[in-house]
Amino acid sequence: MEKFENYIDSKKEIFLEELKDFLRIPSVSSQSSKNQDTARCARWVANALKDAKMENIELLETGGHPIVYADWLHAGEKYPTILIYGHYDVQPAEPLDLWSSPPFEPVIVDGKIFARGTADDKGQLYTHIKAVESLIETEGKLPCNIKFMIEGEEECGSSHLEDFIINNAKKLECDYAIVSDTEWFAEGLPTICYALRGICYTELTVTGPNRDLHSGSFGGAVDNPINVLCQIISKLIDENGKIAVPGLYDKVLELSQQERDAFKKLPYNEEKYMKDLGVKALNGEKGFTTLERNWARPSLDVNGIYGGYTEEGAKTVLPSIATAKISIRLVANQNSEEVYELLNKYIQKIAPDTVKAELTYIHGGEPVMVDMTEKPIKACEIALKKAFGVEPVFMREGGSIGIVALFGSVLNAPTVLMGLGLPTDNIHSPNENFSLDNFYGGIKASAFFLKEISNEQYA
Ligand code: BES
Ligand code: MN
Ligand code: MN
Repeated sequence: MEKFENYIDSKKEIFLEELKDFLRIPSVSSQSSKNQDTARCARWVANALKDAKMENIELLETGGHPIVYADWLHAGEKYPTILIYGHYDVQPAEPLDLWSSPPFEPVIVDGKIFARGTADDKGQLYTHIKAVESLIETEGKLPCNIKFMIEGEEECGSSHLEDFIINNAKKLECDYAIVSDTEWFAEGLPTICYALRGICYTELTVTGPNRDLHSGSFGGAVDNPINVLCQIISKLIDENGKIAVPGLYDKVLELSQQERDAFKKLPYNEEKYMKDLGVKALNGEKGFTTLERNWARPSLDVNGIYGGYTEEGAKTVLPSIATAKISIRLVANQNSEEVYELLNKYIQKIAPDTVKAELTYIHGGEPVMVDMTEKPIKACEIALKKAFGVEPVFMREGGSIGIVALFGSVLNAPTVLMGLGLPTDNIHSPNENFSLDNFYGGIKASAFFLKEISNEQYA
């Protein structure tokens, strides 16, 4: 047993209390009413890094919520520099009445900690902070050079990030990046994620008459923007579950037979999946399995739709305006801005000339494919095995983490996605939680990873 393992075991309660403090700060980046809290959370992270003996701690302005930076660069040039990324912002906690306990008052139930941000991403990112502390406390130094970059706008599209990384490329220079912000395929099954989908997030506004109208006096004479919006939406996906936007699949990298076979080997139970979600059947693009559709094919979702009268009772209105939030998940080698252009072109073509249809680009992030032959993947496999005693599996992910593509394209740094969440964590939902076994094991996995990647064989 390594000394740092004993240290981690002896500090379990303290680490947990600290994590609870972190979770009590409602750092909801998308709600401006929470800006003070989000700013306080950035300072909390900066202090935590200081307590973990990191140096050169800075809150870097981005134009939005700041990025917390810290480093420890005393290992020398012979050893690699690892960039550790995480995000201190969280999703909104609403709807509050669906939580079993208040979202910003963490509680432990059955070996899990419940609060908004436990798994996504405060609990996961905190494992790395405690890992460097544990190594420094027990070994007096770190095995490699470390830079931390903890973001505060991941949950609202990381819109300032690209400029930030380009402008700070020198400061962030590294050999590899590590991110813990994904999940295991199943409980007890440590997992390395090797592909993330990208996203193109848009808003479609349909405007008809110049004011709201009486639906009796005008209905049948004037086109209703909500009706039109629904007609447009109904033409976005065809009867085979394919996105109907011309050109959308042109750049999609097809799955290899090898990968399809690998997906089939994962312990996936479709019946259980449906039962857990309370649905009678699944749906999506024909010709692909559920995992293939979710991980390796684009998908289009309406994330919100509004217009007209939505309050209590009835109102006979023919509204002037209707809006929908529409997002498309992207896979390699699609590009978010290109996809926006294709979607806009198609919508302009199918929108009737009775209305004005405007599509706004809200945010985008590019898909990621990690080269499995990269050294940190091997090191991560070994670290997870040592920390959890189980051989890890590989999977893709349907979700997105905007920054990872930029690590590759701007910093030229391969990234390893050493996620620690579980599919039952309820991220973005009420009753978000994080397994304490994964929390403590994750601290050890991070420390093992830093030691492993510093071995000569990876140089
Ligand atoms: N940690 C998630 C990404 C993720 C989702 C990992 C599902 C594993 C499973 C991340 O915080 C996230 O929610 N990303 C957003 C990005 C969006 C706001 C641009 C997403 O995927 O919706
Ligand atoms: Mn996340
Ligand atoms: Mn998230």
